[in-house]
Amino acid sequence: MSALIEVAKSSELKDGSMKKAKIQGHEILLAKVGGKYYAVDNKCPHFGADLSEGKLEGTSIVCPRHRSKFDLRDGRVIQWTNWSGIKLNLAKVFRQPRPLKTYSVKEEGDRILVDIR
Ligand code: FES
Repeated sequence: MSALIEVAKSSELKDGSMKKAKIQGHEILLAKVGGKYYAVDNKCPHFGADLSEGKLEGTSIVCPRHRSKFDLRDGRVIQWTNWSGIKLNLAKVFRQPRPLKTYSVKEEGDRILVDIR
């Protein structure tokens, strides 16, 4: 079953930009890259930072807190924190790398809809 919810109007987002949206208890990050929309959880799976305050790098989002990097297309972890050596190994033991949850996005006229299933 689909649960399509409007999160923005297409005029709200320029290419290469993003916005945070709260819908039915979910905090979503909506980004537009190369004319395509991507929606993921807005909370970093590392320690919950607000990803909408991070940096968009192509189809990747970089967390503002410890610089973990995720692919918006499938949520996969590209980099788990910007730590290295023993600090990174310990970080992986206590907080194993976890992908971002992704949501499918649909455009209907000027409405951007996200399926929050
Ligand atoms: S909270 Fe995002 S990398 Fe640590």
